[in-house]
Amino acid sequence: MGPPPSRLPLLAALVAAALLAGAAAATEEAYVTLLYGDEFVLGVRVLGKSIRDTGTRRDMVVLVSDGVSEYSRQLLEADGWIVKRITLLANPNQVRPTRFWGVYTKLKIFNMTSYKKVVYLDADTVVVRSIEDVFKCGKFCGNLKHSERMNSGVMVVEPSETVFKDMISQVDRLPSYTGGDQGFLNSYYADFANSRVYEPDSPLTPEPETQRLSTLYNADVGLYMLANKVIFFMCTDND
Ligand SMILES: *[C@@H]1O[C@H](CO)[C@@H](O)[C@H](O)[C@H]1NC(C)=O
Repeated sequence: MGPPPSRLPLLAALVAAALLAGAAAATEEAYVTLLYGDEFVLGVRVLGKSIRDTGTRRDMVVLVSDGVSEYSRQLLEADGWIVKRITLLANPNQVRPTRFWGVYTKLKIFNMTSYKKVVYLDADTVVVRSIEDVFKCGKFCGNLKHSERMNSGVMVVEPSETVFKDMISQVDRLPSYTGGDQGFLNSYYADFANSRVYEPDSPLTPEPETQRLSTLYNADVGLYMLANKVIFFMCTDND
């Protein structure tokens, strides 16, 4: 015997709600990017299209701050992004270039514990081939630039409340050569330059704290950074 007819609309509503809840976090792993204002919305749309074109079924999440308009949020949702509003995390460095205002917000990806693994991509990157292999990275994978520094534009992160809290507790103490998250992360993962190169087909036990994505590997899997990204590197590396 089914439920009485009067209950059916309620049941339908519950099923719909369950489906919607499922849609909010359909997968255990996600691609994530960050948008601070409307200027980069096109970058996020291009990135989203490039991710979708690889045929992935994983969630695409864009963390948006208050500076992002309702119109942009709707556009991104229509593109297939899960839009999550966040508040900016204060930058503890008193003297800092204005472009780094709020960049500590990026640390919030370490707190996305509803996902087991996230691949973070800056809004000025594009994916040109499937990069699903990088989800197999352990706790933390990043790019090494100029053989000494970790670049925070592309990272594979295993979200962890413990790690996030530990980071937040050190934000005031650890130096940041950029005045932003990248400098902080380089202090936090001080030994990053000595990390082993991540190889998806030969996982290590125990899992190392950090591994690096080699430039070669990057080119192989098809991650490219756009022109403005290169300019960005040149600016920060001169800091
Ligand atoms: C970290 O995540 C938890 C659980 O989702 C949340 O309650 C908390 O507000 C987050 N912290 C920050 C600083 O965003």
